[in-house]
Amino acid sequence: MQQITHIAALRTAIAEHKRAGRRIVFVPTMGNLHAGHARLVEQGRHHGQIVACSIFVNPLQFGPTEDLDAYPRTLAADIEKLEAARCDLLFTPSVAEIYPHGLVAQTIVSVPGISRRHCGNSRPGHFDGVATVVNKLFNMVQPDVALFGLKDYQQLQVIRHMVADLCLPIELVGVATQREPSGLALSSRNGYLSAGQKVQAAALYQSLQEAAAALRQRIGIASVEAAAAQRLAAAGFVLDYFSVCHADTLEPAQAEDRQLVILAAAWLGKTRLIDNLQLELRPA
Ligand code: PAF
Repeated sequence: MQQITHIAALRTAIAEHKRAGRRIVFVPTMGNLHAGHARLVEQGRHHGQIVACSIFVNPLQFGPTEDLDAYPRTLAADIEKLEAARCDLLFTPSVAEIYPHGLVAQTIVSVPGISRRHCGNSRPGHFDGVATVVNKLFNMVQPDVALFGLKDYQQLQVIRHMVADLCLPIELVGVATQREPSGLALSSRNGYLSAGQKVQAAALYQSLQEAAAALRQRIGIASVEAAAAQRLAAAGFVLDYFSVCHADTLEPAQAEDRQLVILAAAWLGKTRLIDNLQLELRPA
């Protein structure tokens, strides 16, 4: 695996691959990699000849009260995992390389509407930071295809909106969430959970499954959301949101909507977990 830290060297390497007619596949990450990231790289192999991954802990997507400094940096272990997943190229730029004029002077890419709901409401500015860095990374790597985990469902929808609005010639692929046997979605944040909290945390996915089953039985959306809120509180969570939405717009679902996603975020102690479940309702 080739490791590159500077944009100029990255452009040279990518240009060579493009000249040779190779399709570039891109997996952007913030490192602290787990089996879910490895799956993205492995799936990436089906979409092109060169799989490039980036590791960049993006300060622009952290709020002032979120602990950017405490975010785990595990580069040596990440490199081993990427080698094992047969990643071809790893881009590990510094903050100065990505934001040479500093964060305040940075041009911001802001996707309206969808960025403000759910996680965007709880984490103001978060999706502007994500859209901005992903756009910059796309311009540097110039991929034909980019893969994102469906665990961050709203993030992928924000990026889809941005790619469409800015006419970026990039195909986006969402990859199914990897889960523990308990159903807990794999996440870098699971590392913050105690053994006891990990057991409790399984209730998040269970509540999504129960909500999906209730929606299939045509129980009303408001009752389904209220029951999930009660279930999660009983399991020791402090709820941020639990919301049945239209799968594309992420607006609150209407009774006639068929393509749905249930989005959930909740705190277990000091750890904020998110998860989601997509479902299609058959016409009544
Ligand atoms: O999902 C992530 O790890 C990050 O939000 C991303 C897409 C790499 C942008 O920093």
